[in-house]
Parts: sequence; C-alpha cells; structure tokens
Amino acid sequence: MSFGTKLFRKQFPIFKHHPNLVYLDSAATTQKPKMVIEGITNFYEKENANIHRGIYDLAAQATQKYESVRQKVANFIGTKNPSEIVYTSGTTNAINIVANSFLLPRLEAGDEVLISAMEHHANMIPWQMACSVKGAKLRIIPIDKKGNLDIVAYRNMLSAKTKMVAVVHISNTLASINPIAEMIELAHQNNCPILIDGAQSTAHYPIDVDGLDCDFFTFSGHKLFGPTGIGVLYGKMAHLEAMTPYQLGGDMIRTVTYQTATFAPPPQKFEAGTTNIAGVIGLGYAIDFLNQFDKKELAKYVKKLGDYAREKLLTINDLSIIGEAKNKTGIVSFVLKNIHPHDVATFLGSANIAIRAGHHCTQPLMDFYEIPATSRASFSIYSNLEEIDFLVEEVKNIQAFFS
Ligand code: ALA
Repeated sequence: MSFGTKLFRKQFPIFKHHPNLVYLDSAATTQKPKMVIEGITNFYEKENANIHRGIYDLAAQATQKYESVRQKVANFIGTKNPSEIVYTSGTTNAINIVANSFLLPRLEAGDEVLISAMEHHANMIPWQMACSVKGAKLRIIPIDKKGNLDIVAYRNMLSAKTKMVAVVHISNTLASINPIAEMIELAHQNNCPILIDGAQSTAHYPIDVDGLDCDFFTFSGHKLFGPTGIGVLYGKMAHLEAMTPYQLGGDMIRTVTYQTATFAPPPQKFEAGTTNIAGVIGLGYAIDFLNQFDKKELAKYVKKLGDYAREKLLTINDLSIIGEAKNKTGIVSFVLKNIHPHDVATFLGSANIAIRAGHHCTQPLMDFYEIPATSRASFSIYSNLEEIDFLVEEVKNIQAFFS
C-alpha cells in the first residue's frame, strides 16, 4: 500500500472524522493509526492492571506486555540490551534525566558543554541549568544561514574541558539532518559522551544506536504514531549503572529502611511510581505499525514531500524558506514578507490546513535569523503531494488577501 494514498490514510481514523483536514503538523505530533488506538483501548478494556506488583494473572500479563515492548523498542533503535531502554514521559523528560543524573554530578566549574545553535529548548535549558549550577560554560556549535552545522567549528570546540555534547538529529525548525555519526566519533576521540535528540528522526529514519555508538538517544512516542506522555531514553548500560536516579519512589528500589534506600538496576531505577503503562502498550503498537514498512522507503517518501514543498513554495514571490541545509527532510519553515506567521497559520486554518506557526521552541534560532517566528509545514507518511499543492494555492491566496 503506497504512502499518502486514500487507502493508506484509512488507517488513520482522524481523516474519517475530518475528511477535509490537511494535516501538515506532524513534527508537532503525528496522527495515530487505528491499531494504536485500538491497542490502547483493548488494554484498558481487557488487560489493565498495575505492573511489577501484583502476582495475579492480569498483573503478570500486564507486566509481561510492558516489558515485551522494551524489547521491541530495543530492536527498533538497534540495541541488543532491553535494559538500556528507559521509559520516560517524552524526549524532554529523557534529556532532563541525563542533565540531572548524569552530567550534573560530573560537571565542575570551568567545564564546557556543547550544543548546536539549532537545538529545541528541551535540548538547551536542561544543559543551561546544569552549567549555571556548576559554573560551567554552555558553548554553541555554530550553523550557517542555510542551516548546516559547522562541523569544523565543532571539532575545534572539543577539548579536555568538554564534558558533554548534546545535539539534535533532525532540526524541528530547519529540517537539517545533522552528521551525527561523525559528531559521535569526534566526541569520542575527545573522550566525551554525547546525547542525540531523536525526537524528529525516529519515526522516519532508521536508527541504530549500537552502530552509532552514541551514549544517549532520546525520542517521544507521540511523534512516532504512538500516544503522548511516553518516550524513551536509551543509555549505554555503564552510564545508566553509574547514574543516581532523578526521581525517587515506588517500583525503583531494592531495599528501603526509614533512613536509607538502595536502588534497583537500570532501567527500573529510573521508572519511579506507576508509569504510563497504557502509553508503553501504545508505543508497542506504534512500533508494530512502523515495522510494516522499510524505514529507508519511509525516509525517502518524507524527504520527497519536503523537497516538493520547498520547490513549489519558492515559486511564490516574497516567500523565503528558513532551512536550506544540504541534507534535510520533510519539514518546511517559511516566512512571507509583511505577513506574520500567526496570520498565515490562522488563514490556513480556516482552509482546513493545519500547520504550526511560532518560534517552534527554538527562540535563539529565531534570533539568529532575526525573525520572530516562521510558518512550518511538516509531513509524514499519510501526507501527499495534492495536500502540498493545496497549501501552495492557499499561501498565494493569503498574499492576495493581505495585499
Ligand atoms: N517539538 C514539537 C514541534 O516542533 C512540539 O512542534
């Protein structure tokens, strides 16, 4: 079944309920396939129980299903060890765990942390906070105006002072695909751990954490056709073992007295309290959904949509694209001369086209381009060329309306 066709879209109930919806906001969150929605409903209707606690059948089965998703995630992102998969509430939570539990205790005054100029606030503020607490310096790997990361500058910035690198795989604003394999290698030549923010890449790109040899990798379920409130932190076992958990409570301990506690091994020591069990189950179905497809074909399709949209949008006068890196994918940020992106999004919204407008949680990047915001269309496997043609026509209509 071909991506983007009527038949393919039938798997996504949202399009049945909103037949005229042109959903071009998949970088914000993807729509959910029927099998994910039904899988979650089925869990609540027929299988619901808490995990790791009860010894009755229902609880044992819920535990088994929850843990089997861990193996599924491990296979999906290319690690052999499911214990290296920590369930979190999302990418933001995962990065906060690493900043607080891994970096903070190791960071000293005068040390440096490197992030790129195109980071999402989620991969910026936790490092800012760690640096400010310890008197360390957050240094920014520069990009050029097209949105290419400056790999030479990065190499030169790495030094004995660098204690952590954190970089986004695919920029949610620029669509740039960063050379993470090379960046990981350079960080390791410098004995420095590196975290890859895979929030925008994991749905559409093949990920192989073992092959990449990254120290940490993060992603969110809801950008991967799964539910909100569930995400993953992958960490190398040696790092996870060395980390003191960030949240403390039930289901993460080995022994507790009134005065002391010892912790369960990873990943359990990072999963305090009752976690998002149904979210994990939903994530499992989302991975089953994705496993039906060849990830390379998927990446090719989404890139094709991005290229087509850029080409068509650029035929419009007074429109510029923000994000023209050499290697990029299906996210297109644009600005129209003299029309605010919020007006663009409102106008498009009234034509049933859903896009995001704003700073996209990358305010410093907006400062770099000296703009307050962009309009952003982002694509997924249910998107198609006709939708892009419609977007382009409506953008022209906006200009006519405002002129
Ligand atoms: N990070 C998401 C986006 O880029 C919410 O829209």
